[in-house]
Amino acid sequence: MITFVRGGTVVSPTGSQLLDVLIDGESIVAVLQPGSTALAADLTESADAVVDASGKYVLPGGVDGHTHMEMPFGGTFASDTFETGTRAAAWGGTTTIVDFAIQTPGQRVQDTLAQWHEKAAGSCAIDYGFHQIIGDVDSDSLKAMSELVAEGVTSFKLFMAYPGVFYSDDGKILRAMQTAADTGALLMMHAENGIAIDVLIEQSIARGDTAPYFHGTSRPWQLEEEATHRAIMLANVTGAPLYVVHVSAKQALEQIARARGNGQNVFGETCPQYLYLSLEEQLGAPGFDGAKWVCSTPLRARAEGHQDELWRYLRTGDVSTVSTDHCPFCMKDQKELGIGDFSKIPNGIGSVEHRMDLMYQGVVSGKISLEKWVEVCCTTPARMFGMYPKKGIVSPGADADLVIYDPNGHTSIGLGKTHHMNMDYSAYEGFEIDGHVDTVISRGRVIVDDGEYRGSAGHGRFVKRSLAQNLL
Ligand code: URP
Ligand code: ZN
Ligand code: ZN
Ligand code: ZN
Repeated sequence: MITFVRGGTVVSPTGSQLLDVLIDGESIVAVLQPGSTALAADLTESADAVVDASGKYVLPGGVDGHTHMEMPFGGTFASDTFETGTRAAAWGGTTTIVDFAIQTPGQRVQDTLAQWHEKAAGSCAIDYGFHQIIGDVDSDSLKAMSELVAEGVTSFKLFMAYPGVFYSDDGKILRAMQTAADTGALLMMHAENGIAIDVLIEQSIARGDTAPYFHGTSRPWQLEEEATHRAIMLANVTGAPLYVVHVSAKQALEQIARARGNGQNVFGETCPQYLYLSLEEQLGAPGFDGAKWVCSTPLRARAEGHQDELWRYLRTGDVSTVSTDHCPFCMKDQKELGIGDFSKIPNGIGSVEHRMDLMYQGVVSGKISLEKWVEVCCTTPARMFGMYPKKGIVSPGADADLVIYDPNGHTSIGLGKTHHMNMDYSAYEGFEIDGHVDTVISRGRVIVDDGEYRGSAGHGRFVKRSLAQNLL
């Protein structure tokens, strides 16, 4: 099957150019100067399918490096399955996700990874990989880290938060980092001081401050900055590369920027919710409504200027990637578990479908360039997680994962069924987006076209990832 994508502007981190793209089967086989008219006319005739991309951007498919489909949390499960969540991702122009397999104390790491494989196999609309969460650092799990690297799971997340659930103390973190340094794996960190936060939560509830807003105030930025700094220093001692997930505080990013300035392999990830939403407006919504936006790290105060600083750090390159941390819970029966006690609200926001659109608004408003958009949403996550150059770039030899994005289109978010995620609300209700995902191609197959879904569960394959190379 030959597909010819004609007349579009191909965007990469290094520039944008009018180019035609030739797909044979599942791969891109050539990018062509549109000036070569005889050849283009020939291909237009002979291709099995021709996609007209004139006036539109042709992007590498989005790579969302941080999702939690069907994640168990607080007595319930994230409401998107691999099937519904990856279909929603496809609608939004994401063609690869990296989800988290979770080990908790008492479980064999390899068994938990096998469980995640079982959940995802045959269900996904797009390609997927796994990070492994190590919730219990001991000699068995450290050994398992080396084994998993050989199986294409090359990154491991640890938690400085959630004592009694996922939490690792500094000694355990140090050991895991030593193993990461030895194997070349990437160490990912949830950097919040969970021991101190648990005290603040208990005190808040005891005072009667039980509304969702107080989820935010009991996880202050100081405890994100402190944990981020500590993680950086532990990584420095061990030589492990460090990837700090879902950074929301400007002070935490200052720590990351300083470490990078010193030449240390440290990377920051942020998420659309930290760029657009806030403690005052969303977590502080009337009644129990703020529960929709309970996630950790929490939304930060707009008055403190975190959002503007996060955009600035995207421009300087100290924020390397934008992922969603997609972890949806419905209001009914899920978020509602925390009525009268915010600490029982399942943590997470769903937005796997909206990341490309939301980040494109940064291009529209002049906060980031077109090229930076593709860099942080597609290319760098592919590179960082060992999938480049198969993923993350429109180039011969790459998988034919493409998004045809219409800058003159329009997308309304929220108000009824405008999204495909399995959620009974939208975290971005009322957002009006300049731009539209027109066509999505996954390994050569058109899976979304003109508002029609043409994908299928099971098309998506497991991506065996390599170690990331030359990180900084
Ligand atoms: O609130 C969040 N982020 N839920 C997902 C779990 C995590 O810590 O990433
Ligand atoms: Zn986390
Ligand atoms: Zn997460
Ligand atoms: Zn359109």
